[in-house]
Amino acid sequence: MARESGMLLERISRLRKGFEEARARGQAMVPKIGTPAGTGLERPAVVQALGELLQNVSGSEVDVLPSPSYLTHGMRQLLSRAGQIAERLHWLTADQATSHGLTKGSAVAALGAIVRSVATLPNSVTVQDLRLEGLKVQLMLLEQLAENLEASQAHCNSRKRQLMVLARLLGDLHASAQLEGNGPLEPCRLEPVVAMVLEFARRDTWREGLWIPAEAVNDTAMMIAADGWNVALVMARACLRHACPNGVELEEVVLAGLVHDVGMLGVPEIQMKQVEAWSATDRGVMEGHARLGARLLEQWLPGAAAARGMVLWHHERPDGTGYPDGLLGAEIPELARLGAVTDMVCGLLLPRSNRPATPWIEAVRVAVRSAEVGLLDPKWVGVVAALVDSPDERLAS
Ligand SMILES: [Fe+2]
Ligand SMILES: [Fe+2]
Repeated sequence: MARESGMLLERISRLRKGFEEARARGQAMVPKIGTPAGTGLERPAVVQALGELLQNVSGSEVDVLPSPSYLTHGMRQLLSRAGQIAERLHWLTADQATSHGLTKGSAVAALGAIVRSVATLPNSVTVQDLRLEGLKVQLMLLEQLAENLEASQAHCNSRKRQLMVLARLLGDLHASAQLEGNGPLEPCRLEPVVAMVLEFARRDTWREGLWIPAEAVNDTAMMIAADGWNVALVMARACLRHACPNGVELEEVVLAGLVHDVGMLGVPEIQMKQVEAWSATDRGVMEGHARLGARLLEQWLPGAAAARGMVLWHHERPDGTGYPDGLLGAEIPELARLGAVTDMVCGLLLPRSNRPATPWIEAVRVAVRSAEVGLLDPKWVGVVAALVDSPDERLAS
């Protein structure tokens, strides 16, 4: 059966090639399927093999009813299109949600239903034609869905790739700072990531584009990169909706967000994974990430003074209880105040080994309460809280 399904896949890809070549030549969209008798393209074999393919795709049982009758031309066309869609879905991860809330699971279920319908079509040609028309419409919708799923997957993959670049870059930055005589890193390597964040910030609605893994990430560089990505994205959106703090360039806001926690690479891996509570010494090492990060950024990009300020002071609190300098209120630069709000909210959005991810609304509530007791700047809490597009969610907060 696996061999047959492999053969079918081969046939499907041949069909698709023909389909694409015909389209390139401006010919009919549906390829002609030459099926001399005895080549194995009879309906029972195709339906059964497609069923197996779908089963592989969905991981769930697809009940296929074999039928003794031969494929009509319309059925062949329909099944080959179903096969093309199945093949496209095959390469997507399960339950990839699109902006329409559709998943690979629901697409596979619908595709399975269509294949089953073909298997049980009555022998009357008129009824078959009518039913086939209905099934063709369903297939068109599924094709659209497969396209949405692919676009959504590509969107997600490109973001992950950028995060990997960022994680590697943060690691390199740290390593190069530790090696004597090593010159500063090429700053241009971060440019594509900054551009990508800005593209997401401009294009998507407030919630999209954030990178929120299903489970805690067990890699410090990746975790710092994910947090950096989210902080940069939310700060960029806040600046696009409001205004950049004190005329700081949007690119520098994004840069500051991306690297704000780079100094966390100085905290030993063993401490990051430690289950028991941190000692005063551990806490000191962790708090040292602000100064270490600022030093790294200074060596790397001496001109980025505003970004350096955010890296150094994103844990300062307006009531003077923050670190590393215990600055008070307006002594903390605006960008660092926006950074502190965003960092608190985004930190809660990520799942950790000891707690699940916090929903956005709850994270914003925490920020509002923190502003009430002098731990965050209320102005920037208001700006970040207002990023929510839906009035319902705004009311809920
Ligand atoms: Fe931090
Ligand atoms: Fe952070």
